[in-house]
This record gives sequence, C-alpha cells and structure tokens, in this order.
Amino acid sequence: MPDILESFSQENIVAVAKELANAGIAAFPTETVYGLGADATNDFAVAKVYEIKNRPTFNPLIIHFQNADEAFKHVVSNDIAIRLAEKFWPGALTMVLPRRVESNISLLASAGLATLAVRVPAHSVAQKLIAMVGKPLAAPSANASGKISPTSAAHVAKSLGDKISMILDGGDCKVGIESTVVDISTTTPTILRHGTIVREDLEAAAGVKFSEATEIGIKSPGQLLSHYSPSIPIRLNAISVDADEALISFGDSHIAGAKHTVNLSLSGDLVEAAANLFKVMHQLDSSHYTGIAVVKIPDDGIGRAINDKLRRAAHQNK
Ligand code: TXA
Ligand code: MG
Repeated sequence: MPDILESFSQENIVAVAKELANAGIAAFPTETVYGLGADATNDFAVAKVYEIKNRPTFNPLIIHFQNADEAFKHVVSNDIAIRLAEKFWPGALTMVLPRRVESNISLLASAGLATLAVRVPAHSVAQKLIAMVGKPLAAPSANASGKISPTSAAHVAKSLGDKISMILDGGDCKVGIESTVVDISTTTPTILRHGTIVREDLEAAAGVKFSEATEIGIKSPGQLLSHYSPSIPIRLNAISVDADEALISFGDSHIAGAKHTVNLSLSGDLVEAAANLFKVMHQLDSSHYTGIAVVKIPDDGIGRAINDKLRRAAHQNK
C-alpha cells in the first residue's frame, strides 16, 4: 500500500514535492477531485501517469499552475480567457487554449495536440505543492481509467493503491466533481465537460454565448479531438523499409536497409517508448523523409495507447 501522508504536515508536502520534482508520481488533493500528479514538463513522468491509469488512449491531461500568469506563459490567452481567469481562478474551471510554441510542457501530456488544457486549482495543499515543485503539474483524476473519480485519499488508495507510493491526504474534496472544461481556442467558446461552474456563470463572466459539444454522453472530450498526425504517411507493423522512409523501431528489432532509425526504447521499455513517441513523430515530420515505417509495438499495458495513437496517425493521413 502507498504512504498516506497527512497534508497538514509541511514535512509531508516537502516529501511529495521532492518525489514529483524527481520525475516521480504522487496523488494530491484539489478542490474538485484528487489528481494523479506528475511534472508536466517531463515526458517520462507523464508516460508513467498514463501507464498507472491504464488508459487505452492518450487522452490529454489537465496542466495545473500556481496562478494565471504562469498558465498564460504556456498558452495564448484571449479576452474571454482573461475574464474567465479573473472570475473563476483559482477554481474548478479548466480552459483549453492554443499552446505556445515555446512551452516546455510535455507533448505527451497534451497528446501532441496544438492546445493545452490549463487550470489553477484553489485547494491550498495543491497550491503549496505546485509552488514547491516549481513546475506545472499534469494531473488527471487519480482513478484507474473508467472508474469513478476519487474525492478522498481512501478512494485513491482503493483504485490505484498498488501502483503508486504516495498519496497526500487533504481530506474530502469540497467540490467533489471534476472541473468544468471549456474550449476557448476557437471563435466559438464551447463547454466540453460540465462541472459546478455552469453555462450561465460562464456566459455572465465572459459576456459571450457558449455552445456545447453536441455528442451525447461525452465522458472524455479528448476522444473527440482530431488527433495529431504527422503530415507524411505512416505505416505500421513494418517488416521492410523503403529507401526514403524513416524507421521507428523498438527494443532490439531492426530492419536491414533502414537509413534513418529512431528507437523509441532500446531496452524495450514501453513507458520510455510512450515518453518518446510524440517527440519522435514531430521530429520526423519536419525531416526530409517521405514516410515513416514503424515496427510492431507490443500491445500490452501502455503499448495499447501507443498503438491506438499510431493507428489514428496512420489512418488520418491515408
Ligand atoms: O477537476 C479536474 O479537472 C481534475 C483535477 C485533478 O484537476 N482533473 C481531471 O483530469 O479531471 P482528467 O484527465 O480526468 O480529465 C481531463 C479532461 C479529459 O476529458 C480530457 O479529454 C480533457 O480534459 N482535455 C485535456 N486536454 C484537452 C485539450 N487539449 N483539448 C480538449 N480536451 C482536453
Ligand atoms: Mg477523469
């Protein structure tokens, strides 16, 4: 079982902050639900979050900041974002905005998208933790994929206890449901996920109408997003490679004749492969190769999310 650390002790917050600063993973309280935290600028830490949650896809994560100024260093704000931030931050609102090119947030955390979901949590423990780590924290709800979001340390322990070593216990979450997610990266502001900050509140603060994602019963808006794909063709389960194709390999698999090979993980570690995936795709996308061949990637654990991503990428540019 993980260490359940009372958050009224400064020493405990320091211990968790150290773990996070060293690419570790820990659960922490926010006013909405408990988050499974990782240094959002570290691909490997972010890959571990996906693995621990056992998500079959890379559904992008919310990035938590100390304040709006810090958040707006990573995303391009606009008038609506500024008004919403003034009214609802710190608090239970997540805004999806265009990612700044200079942002050092892990590409994996936003599943390679051109946008980032940002939030400034109000919980004092979350605030102290973010300040102490000195980095934004990527944090999905601290439950296994498809299970109910946790509103107490005991819920987290029940769902993920065998997979994490630390839970910072801040008591029961006051809000108890996940933050409202709004997409204000486009000209029509859209509510992607409903929470305690409702349409009327948003419209009053922003002075504009919001539309709603029309799909029925959306659980994870991330799955509706058009996914990032390289602009050059990508082939999966390759056993040969063309002269002008780049090769993405994994472990000890190599293909004779490949001129340019990038290995996702020489040691055959799927978490490391996930951490490298988006970086490698971006890198090859801006190269002179005319296509990308990818060797077969094992379909276990986080390998499922890697394969899901690769299949979407291959399908999209057909
Ligand atoms: O209250 C909350 O928001 C909690 C606490 C821990 O902050 N976090 C949370 O995270 O609920 P998670 O990962 O369980 O949900 C994040 C949601 C997902 O539905 C995801 O699809 C969406 O936010 N999301 C993240 N980045 C996005 C993006 N760039 N565009 C659209 N949706 C995004
Ligand atoms: Mg969730």
